[in-house]
Amino acid sequence: KDHIQVVNGHLHISGADTVEIARRFGTPVYVTSEDRLRENIRRYHRAFPDADKYFAVKANGNISIIRILAQEGAGADVFSAGELYLARLAGVPRERILFNGNSKRDEELRMAVTSGVRVSIDSEEELESLSRIASEESKNVEILFRVNPDISVNTHPKIATGLKSSKFGIPAQSVRSICEKAMHMDGIKPIGLHCHIGSQILDVSSFSEAAARMMDLVGEIVDIGGDMELLDLGGGLGIQYDPAAPPAPSPEDLANAVLPVIERRSEELGVRLKLILEPGRSIVADTTILLTGVNVVKRAHVTFVGVDAGFNVLARPMLYDAYHYIVVANRADAEISERYTVVGPICESGDVLARNRALPVVKKGDILAFLDAGAYGFSMSSQYNGQPRPAEVLVRDGEVELIRKAEDISALLACQIIPPRLM
Ligand code: LLP
Repeated sequence: KDHIQVVNGHLHISGADTVEIARRFGTPVYVTSEDRLRENIRRYHRAFPDADKYFAVKANGNISIIRILAQEGAGADVFSAGELYLARLAGVPRERILFNGNSKRDEELRMAVTSGVRVSIDSEEELESLSRIASEESKNVEILFRVNPDISVNTHPKIATGLKSSKFGIPAQSVRSICEKAMHMDGIKPIGLHCHIGSQILDVSSFSEAAARMMDLVGEIVDIGGDMELLDLGGGLGIQYDPAAPPAPSPEDLANAVLPVIERRSEELGVRLKLILEPGRSIVADTTILLTGVNVVKRAHVTFVGVDAGFNVLARPMLYDAYHYIVVANRADAEISERYTVVGPICESGDVLARNRALPVVKKGDILAFLDAGAYGFSMSSQYNGQPRPAEVLVRDGEVELIRKAEDISALLACQIIPPRLM
């Protein structure tokens, strides 16, 4: 990867020495390459010059990162009032924001209405709530219908979202009737369809299948006189976490899989659709590494490396058995020495970041870098076990800037209240 390099035995990211970064900011710390981030969104622009790209804010909610993407012309997929707030603060224009969610609060629907963003409708009941709220606010809302296309994809079951059994979306066979109803409702303007079939998908044929199924539904709605302007195919493009695995498909591969399907069917139906994509992982994952310090090496049944980041900082290995490549940042060109199981400081035996991993010799005080940690890394972190959340820094051309300070221990008390009777 061009933004990750080894110089004199030290791992560098975008021209900055990660060992220096760890020394200056402490560990754990998330380190993001601004150059790579801009390159990743530009790759999407090149592959899909006519589509809108709405960055999935759940993957990374740092407003400097969202702002850089907004500067590059990206919109935002937001899944809560909080994510809408972040996207707006980061400078994403409201015309390029879609409010998603399968269980939105009425207050969230109201916030969507008053901020003038589009809403993706996940159920008939939600449609009724939105219509009532829009009328109360004397506003019109453009909506998309989140469809459950019933497509099975090859990914971890916890992140497959397009199956019939999943909690997301309106069953494909009900979309037509709900849309027909919406066309006559106050305050509501249906303008498109939306789906998201899952995450970390490495076979683009799943996306062409989804596109074909969505175009059939577009056809059904055009048949009843509906207005179809937008087709949102969601996110989900996977990345290559393991260098030994086959390379992941690129945005170009995705474009080649879906655009011909959409173009052909659009022509047949006589519609002009604007395509929307909601990439999260494929925009941010490889921009960021997590640096963590080694507290202890213990030779037991296996050799454990105890680091200062656990599943409180990087939850993916524990939740999804996810693989993140590891580099010993301060000895990055050393020969492989033995196999280690890398564990965090959390009081649970499941707090394992990597099992049986071949690494150069690891010693107390070393810095390990977990690669591809920019998506669902910090954004899924917690304060479990009294652990303040880590800092985030941004690197551009060798210059390093803090974009989130590390919480100090007082953050653990930030919202806690001691009732006077306990004082
Ligand atoms: N759009 C919708 C409606 C979504 O639900 C998601 C992800 C995305 C877009 C972005 O998908 P992406 O391009 O990032 O695959 N925490 C899990 C991933 C959860 C994905 C949830 N939805 C992980 O760390 O693997």
